[in-house]
Amino acid sequence: MTESSLASTATPDRDVPPLLSVSGVRKTYAGTGGGASTVAIDDLTFTVDKGEFVVIVGPSGCGKTTLLRCLSGLLAPTSGTVEFDGRTVAGVQAGLGVVFQEYTRSLMPWLSVRANVELGLHRLPKAERREQAERSLRHVGLVEFGDRYPWQLSGGMQQRVAIARAISADPRLLMMDEPFASVDAQTRTSLESMVLDLWVEAGWTGLLVTHDIDEAIFMADRVLVLSQRPSRVIEAIDIVLDRPRDQLETRASPEFQEYRRRITALIGQH
Ligand SMILES: Nc1ncnc2c1ncn2[C@@H]1O[C@H](COP(=O)(O)OP(=O)(O)OP(=O)(O)O)[C@@H](O)[C@H]1O
Ligand SMILES: [Mg+2]
Repeated sequence: MTESSLASTATPDRDVPPLLSVSGVRKTYAGTGGGASTVAIDDLTFTVDKGEFVVIVGPSGCGKTTLLRCLSGLLAPTSGTVEFDGRTVAGVQAGLGVVFQEYTRSLMPWLSVRANVELGLHRLPKAERREQAERSLRHVGLVEFGDRYPWQLSGGMQQRVAIARAISADPRLLMMDEPFASVDAQTRTSLESMVLDLWVEAGWTGLLVTHDIDEAIFMADRVLVLSQRPSRVIEAIDIVLDRPRDQLETRASPEFQEYRRRITALIGQH
């Protein structure tokens, strides 16, 4: 396959504004005790269209978590702007769901699984909160575990709780920071497929960051390849692979291998 045959066949509808618009975002962390400051991300610009599944892939430490924190309003960029649905993001925003990198730190150990999921629904009356939490737990296959505590569950199950919490409020955009990094390989592939099924079913827009090139290709409509820190987008690659994707067949296809070769080479050069 040639490089050009990997180009997108999709023609995005330019009349519809992007759901997320990131323009010239840069984040510098001040040094502590007179130490040097760290430029974590440098001039990042990209958009995410409604309904897309975009994956950002980049080496460890390149600034992926910093970027997601800026996009979700948890951290203010040093310069540049983030717009969600046409409005500048400043502070935590309704319609955005986030799954954090470390589920062990994002779930409250003193709350039951159900109460952890309900945390994302605090604005709703109690009965509705309960109903929506049950529905989310059912989606991730954990409805029988609502009364347990997170520490009574396996790592993969805990990450499913974190996903249930993020989807419980029906987000329009679900952002995920290395959501499968701390689980074993088999759990990881089943969680990847579960997230894709949920994406198709619920119709949210997906933005996932990972350092795993194969995972990026498997999940994405479009992969944004980041450089080493301070990160910038080296290239955006449309992934033209049939859906639904299959963990064995899709990954074994020559097209998949070619995407892997191309992205690995890009990351190696920067
Ligand atoms: N709160 C902070 N204060 C100062 N420096 C920070 C802070 N958070 C991150 N950094 C620095 O910013 C850079 C990017 O970190 P970040 O966690 O965003 O990278 P990452 O791509 O998510 O890494 P990983 O792949 O390991 O998750 C690193 O050099 C890190 O040391
Ligand atoms: Mg990170």
